Amino acid sequence: MSGFRFDRLFIGGEWVAPLDGGVRPSIDPSTGAPWGDVAFGGVRDIDRAVAAARDAFEGPWRRMPPWERAALLRRFADLYATQVDALAEVETRDNGRAIRESRGDISLHAQYYHWFASLADKLGGRTIPMDNSVHAFTTRHPVGVVGAITPWNVPMMAAAWKLGPALAAGCTVVLKPAEQTPASSLALARLFEEAGFPPGVVNVVPGDGPVAGAALVAHPDVAKISFTGEGATAKTILKAGADTLTRCTFELGGKAPHIIFADADIENAINAATGSAWALCGQSCALGSRVLVERSVYDRVVDAFKERAGQVRVGMPLDPATHMGPQAHQQQLDKTLSYVAIGKAEGAELVSGGQRIGGGDLAAGYFVEPTVFASVSAGMRIAQEEIFGPVAAIIPFEGEEEAVAIANSTPYGLAAGLWSGDTGRAHRVAARIEAGMVWVNTYRYIRWSTPYGGVKASGWGRENGIEGLDPFLETKTTIVSTTGQFPNPFQS
Ligand code: NAI
Ligand code: MG
Repeated sequence: MSGFRFDRLFIGGEWVAPLDGGVRPSIDPSTGAPWGDVAFGGVRDIDRAVAAARDAFEGPWRRMPPWERAALLRRFADLYATQVDALAEVETRDNGRAIRESRGDISLHAQYYHWFASLADKLGGRTIPMDNSVHAFTTRHPVGVVGAITPWNVPMMAAAWKLGPALAAGCTVVLKPAEQTPASSLALARLFEEAGFPPGVVNVVPGDGPVAGAALVAHPDVAKISFTGEGATAKTILKAGADTLTRCTFELGGKAPHIIFADADIENAINAATGSAWALCGQSCALGSRVLVERSVYDRVVDAFKERAGQVRVGMPLDPATHMGPQAHQQQLDKTLSYVAIGKAEGAELVSGGQRIGGGDLAAGYFVEPTVFASVSAGMRIAQEEIFGPVAAIIPFEGEEEAVAIANSTPYGLAAGLWSGDTGRAHRVAARIEAGMVWVNTYRYIRWSTPYGGVKASGWGRENGIEGLDPFLETKTTIVSTTGQFPNPFQS
């Protein structure tokens, strides 16, 4: 696997054995069996990683001119582009995502790093109009050491979204990937090493969330946590970081409404909605897991979902023909199956799927059928809670008002999609949806330049776009007197 090693932590530019954790097997979810050994760090490993990041921040990284920082990031991006296949294979072995999807996703990431590199030397402040007695201006400065805590569904994408802007802003990083999918982040560390980053600028310490993750959050030398994962974890992090006033940004998933009006191009809408229902085996925060369909086209859309569910090739994830791999780990499989049971008990109509795949080659893996529930009402738990499995909940509605009301009826607000042939309606509805991102007549179009993040329970802050750098920067205001005159306040 391109000489990547996974049995050491990457701290301060060295490949080191864990002090606290150990080396653990990483499970391939398509077989349920170990496929490699990965180093897991504990509290003392996080301590040394933060110390290395702190030294690098105070030392070489802070002194480096921003255009040199940009050049290093570009070199890294070019190296990354040469390793797409290798990284995709590592990620797929860890999380079971179909290799065609892993490759497609990872092949975009070099451009994310290039985009952030292109901003690194353009982070100027502004001059502020004043009277002529003072000159006032702002400058922007990196916040310091960043703890990046990433999830198991898209480890490389989450790393790109956090490390790209953090490094461009001049921060140093300790990356703690999810315990289920640590290997690709160690492969990434090798590429930072090869690109010539100063020791300690990027450190990678896999470890358990409540141990290594918690230690990173509570560490007094960590200025900021950039987290993607579950809302409950975010609340724990917020409390754990309270004593050190640690800044946080959170990307916390969603229950995105994908709205199909009867006046839409229905075929394209069905392509988008079915594609997004089962991509990543349903394990992505932006997927349109609630499909809202206007009543006059409801049966047509439900029939199409049923037919397409039969066309999804569920299979071994490294097979390029496979559309959908397994769930990434046992708990997620259990969670998904529990929601199928909940949906049935709530009275939703199971139109397709709903079972673990128990036969043949797939029996040992965490495979589940593409699943469709129809006659779902907005208040049902399968329409309110994030399942993170390949389960589409199709909800009927009548007219714009009801569509908007249902769309906004969950605690979440990450993304939304709507399909309509009426431009005015598209704008009206898009403006009223509570979400950080709305797609009109397309879905899941996400790029380096488009800010991404949620409102309501979906999180705090934005990743990507120029806004994606803000959480890693502080603004300093400097005011210089043009006269130097300061009268004695006690004279009269
Ligand atoms: P999680 O929030 O527990 O894990 C995400 C990351 O947080 C991992 O790196 C984990 O090690 C770390 N973590 C866990 N506890 C921590 C703590 N106390 N302090 C610091 N870091 C900690 O998510 P989990 O349990 O893996 O998945 C549960 C559900 O969360 C999923 O079924 C899904 O609904 C949602 N989720 C949403 C994601 C998104 O893209 N927004 C990604 C992953 C999960
Ligand atoms: Mg958890």
